[in-house]
Amino acid sequence: MKGGVTPEVIAEVRARANILDVVSEQVPLKKRGKDHWGLCPFHNEKTGSFSVNQDKGIYKCFGCGEGGDSFAFVQKVKGLNFIDAVRELAHKYGVPLVESVEQQAQYDKRSQILMLYQQAAEYYMKILNSPGEGMAAREYLKNRALTEESIAKFKLGFAPNTWDGLLTYLTRVNQISPAILEEAGLVRKRTEGTGHIDLFRERLMVPICDDQGRVIAFGGRAFGDSPVKYLNSPETPLYMKRQHLFAFHLAKEAIKTKDAVIVMEGYFDVITSHQYGFENTVATCGTALAAEQAKLLIRYTESKRVYLSFDSDAAGVKAVERGVETLTQVAEGIGIQLRVIDVPGSKDPDECLRSEDGPESFQRAIDDAPLLTDYQIVQQLKEINYQTHTGKIEAAKRVVPVIARIRSDVARGEYIRQTALKIGIREEELLTDVGQYRRENRLANSSGRSPFSMTERAPLTNKVAHARMRDGTLGAERSLLALFLLSRDDHKLAWEALADEQLLTPAHVAVKDAIYGIGTSFNNIEDLQHRIQDRLAPEKEAAAALVEVILTAEEMRKQKAPAQVIILEARTRLVKERIDRLIQHLKGASGSEIDEHNQVRLQSKISELTKLEKIVLPQLGNISELDDLKRKIDQLVGQSENKSQGEA
Ligand code: UTP
Ligand code: MN
Repeated sequence: MKGGVTPEVIAEVRARANILDVVSEQVPLKKRGKDHWGLCPFHNEKTGSFSVNQDKGIYKCFGCGEGGDSFAFVQKVKGLNFIDAVRELAHKYGVPLVESVEQQAQYDKRSQILMLYQQAAEYYMKILNSPGEGMAAREYLKNRALTEESIAKFKLGFAPNTWDGLLTYLTRVNQISPAILEEAGLVRKRTEGTGHIDLFRERLMVPICDDQGRVIAFGGRAFGDSPVKYLNSPETPLYMKRQHLFAFHLAKEAIKTKDAVIVMEGYFDVITSHQYGFENTVATCGTALAAEQAKLLIRYTESKRVYLSFDSDAAGVKAVERGVETLTQVAEGIGIQLRVIDVPGSKDPDECLRSEDGPESFQRAIDDAPLLTDYQIVQQLKEINYQTHTGKIEAAKRVVPVIARIRSDVARGEYIRQTALKIGIREEELLTDVGQYRRENRLANSSGRSPFSMTERAPLTNKVAHARMRDGTLGAERSLLALFLLSRDDHKLAWEALADEQLLTPAHVAVKDAIYGIGTSFNNIEDLQHRIQDRLAPEKEAAAALVEVILTAEEMRKQKAPAQVIILEARTRLVKERIDRLIQHLKGASGSEIDEHNQVRLQSKISELTKLEKIVLPQLGNISELDDLKRKIDQLVGQSENKSQGEA
């Protein structure tokens, strides 16, 4: 098979690449019932219609209809074809591909870049530890109270004050051209003259890693007299600033166990935090918090507790606001709990932690961290003397936008009460202003329902039901195909019932072909499902249709409807659809220019078919009567029309 992707590889990857893991990389999910739910990444929505069924290994959006398995998800999200999606997951989950070294290199420029960054990180570490060149930097880190363990854990290094230290090292080790190193973002062209030079010179090197701890970029802190405090790696195929968080790989476990994540601004804030036991801490990489990063953040905290701990200067406050906008957008409807850590002593977290009783007071600051709204209100009221008349007006003006953004009616009302009391104005007045602000800024929703209330979720089941009922034919075909996935006995029944049945939906025809192509050579039903999935994986529509079939099978299993009944109902529905299409077809023909004799003939066929549909069909009692009816229809319309309706 192509590019080292054999059926064995596919099976192994499928076994290792848990759908929940794969999807969680991109979508924050929350468990509800036995499925996990979140906001669909494939269409814009405010309430989550996107579900993941871990047992079945599939995802499905009840809003836009996207669905599939891990492979389909990766294909769709990353815009890859099936083979490359398998390779991507194979790499990620450590499944070796069956291929040559050359193929590997060709497939994956990324692996080369990974290797170079790994080597670069080793080189910088080596320099830091070298007696001469690294001494001053080691001294500096020691003065910052960083331990050897922290330095090793974060793989800190030092870029020497030379033009081409790394360049020489990497080209010697790998015998590759500087152009490749340039592409990897490790060296750059000389601005004057020819040749390349190191990107990072005389800098403390802080490696940035992916979620598996592989170095993919660097933040280089000025050590000499460079006016640029931090030089960060450019983006590469591996490193996209918006998609990575500094120290995320080191924080994952602690985020899980503490069920909370702390976001800071500085690399060194994070390093120090980890050293002092706050290991659920991450940072953005010199940018405002992006939506992708926000999603990463809440992946491992079940109760979505996110603490922001930015510098408490004005810029820090701004950053809090920026981060908040993103987070609230992303987490809308998920019930995120956003708190702001007011770092004691107006310091940055790093300084705070290193000061006397730092860790204790920082922990207290975490415990006391106000909810975002409370924090914002305090910020707005900070320099206002609301004892005075003008002060009250100004204070009210400032808090209105903050309160107006609270989505829950109850919470908003509560804040209005508290704040009015605090400022010393009348509650009704603040209420009026907030209401007006909400209308002007279209924050008020017509129903007035809270986005977090359970009622909001109720329509979802209706949506499901609706999707099932909307198209009787689709549903009928789906149920028939689902029988194959119920049990061996049902598989056998369906096999006979469907052998001659011409399905109308192309995607379902593909599913049926896959099922008949596999035959009876599967081990068990689960194995069958996987084999069908593998066959259909390259065909997006069919793969999506299969997901519907799998879900239908599950529902049918719950309802315990006998297969015979399902077969009769579904096939009756298909016959009805067939008659409908025939009638449409005949009507179309009768509209065109044909002689009177043929007109009469067509009309009588139409009325005959209508009679079969309206009178005979609803009274059918069993399969053989249905087969009789089908024969009658065949006779009536003859072979030619019969054929064209199949293509209609
Ligand atoms: P800080 O200036 O607070 O840096 O910038 P820091 O990490 O706390 O470093 P120390 O403690 O002064 O040594 C916060 C973050 O902003 C980004 C970096 O990610 C940095 O960690 N930054 C800052 C840049 O990307 N470029 C800059 O020039 C400055
Ligand atoms: Mn700092």
